[in-house]
Amino acid sequence: MKTALYRKYRPSSFDEVIGQDIIVTTLVNQIERGAISHAYLFTGSRGTGKTSCAKIFARAINCLSPVHGSPCGKCEVCKALLSPSNLDVVEMDAASNNGVDKIRDLRESVGYMPASGKYKAYIIDEVHMLSGSAFNALLKTLEEPPAHVVFILCTTEVHKLPATILSRCMRFDFKLVPTDKLFALIKDIFRKEGVKAEDKALMHIARLGEGSVRDTLSIGDRCLNASDDLTYELALEITGTGSNEQTADLMDAVVRSDVGGIISKVEQLAGAGKSVSQISRDLTVYARDLMVLMTAGGERLTATKETFARMAEISSKTSVPFLVGFIRTLGGAEAELRYSTSPRIVLESALLSACASIAGAQTTPVTIAEQGQSAKPTERKETKPAEKPVKAPANTPPDERTLGLLGYLRSKLRKSGNLRLFGEYSALPDDKVRLVGNKFVVFVGSDSYLTFAEPENMRAAQEALDEFGAGYVLQVEKLSDGGASELEQILEAVKGLEVEVVDGRGKRIK
Ligand SMILES: Nc1ncnc2c1ncn2[C@@H]1O[C@H](COP(=O)(O)OP(=O)(O)O)[C@@H](O)[C@H]1O
Ligand SMILES: [Mg+2]
Ligand SMILES: [Zn+2]
Repeated sequence: MKTALYRKYRPSSFDEVIGQDIIVTTLVNQIERGAISHAYLFTGSRGTGKTSCAKIFARAINCLSPVHGSPCGKCEVCKALLSPSNLDVVEMDAASNNGVDKIRDLRESVGYMPASGKYKAYIIDEVHMLSGSAFNALLKTLEEPPAHVVFILCTTEVHKLPATILSRCMRFDFKLVPTDKLFALIKDIFRKEGVKAEDKALMHIARLGEGSVRDTLSIGDRCLNASDDLTYELALEITGTGSNEQTADLMDAVVRSDVGGIISKVEQLAGAGKSVSQISRDLTVYARDLMVLMTAGGERLTATKETFARMAEISSKTSVPFLVGFIRTLGGAEAELRYSTSPRIVLESALLSACASIAGAQTTPVTIAEQGQSAKPTERKETKPAEKPVKAPANTPPDERTLGLLGYLRSKLRKSGNLRLFGEYSALPDDKVRLVGNKFVVFVGSDSYLTFAEPENMRAAQEALDEFGAGYVLQVEKLSDGGASELEQILEAVKGLEVEVVDGRGKRIK
């Protein structure tokens, strides 16, 4: 059977560890100066090199002639330590040996001198899995460690460790590995394995790894075995994710508020077998990369020339604040995607509401009473509403209370089969509602929210409000300057209901 890449390419010296420069430098310095602590704690996401570094370090502190702080691999101690039966480097996986007994064994064995090297090293992997009494037993040992003992504790969940343990360890936080480094590594491995691959394909693999070397190598493994000439298309096929170009097209449609484009792109991606959640995640990554490009510059990203050119083009049509709001909107939709029976509609709603927020930001608010008068968007905030101190939400997430009510409202509407709130692209985005005192204010802005202003929605919303708690009043605030027909539609929708309608300045219309 073929060895998995992540086993085959487990680093055996610190030079082979990528993306953890500060940690590696510190550890190497300690070895070169012979200043070894008694307890180390390696924390960080999975697949970032904790166990690998622990193994290298445990060997290096024993090696007779370390090379640049790494084990030489040739001396008798290095050779002895390579044998799994050696007693000087003890590896324990707390996830499987989480009993107190193992730690008790350990407490006894720390008393014996190392067999071949200077130190006895104990690597306790996933140390957060130890039971309470095992922790206590470990703590006793850590309190008075014999001079020849070194502990290296590894964990992905450092918050689960007792402070008494934390305070006795020298802590190293392993970082997610940047995509460009993952790309270089996977490229090198493909070369060593004698498999040709397009850079674009390798870049795709590196991105999917999301900072974990282990995940990158596992994904790389699947692609490596599929062909001896890996194209981008093939990589996409194997990994089951849509192409970056299609994501770019979709993003482009979003920043241009091209509703038709959004719908057809989503359809295309979904038709190609991509899950709605995946589309959403890809868009999030793309938006994030655009933001990086616009703020930190292109050096922070690794992408092909064409990809760069496309990103630069799209970024010229958008702004950082929009992207921040957009990512938040998608994040909010993601939870809903998981439970929805029609996730595609949820995603489309989120995308369209993002467009609407651009439209909202660009639209000069016009009060209904004074048609045609224009004002800068910022002036809206400054214009103190005469009667109602309700501020238009500027892409800020609502507070807990609002979210609670909104969640109730949505589930209620969904149950009652009133899908208009979710279909027709009027998902009632989080940032377009506010609970102000006893008023549940819905900001009806551009056309896409206007579909909320339908009699069924209004009635259902009011019923849900009544059930949620007595005294809640639904208020619709009209923001955009869609003209008299919009106002008519809103008034028509709330006919016979106790719903208040105000204009963009808080002036009561109904
Ligand atoms: N920083 C890194 N540099 C090089 N390879 C790494 C790195 N981190 C992880 N790997 C690869 O992933 C595999 C698993 O890494 P490991 O050290 O067990 O990660 P962790 O303990 O942080 O989950 C290793 O065998 C190695 O191939
Ligand atoms: Mg590990
Ligand atoms: Zn050696």
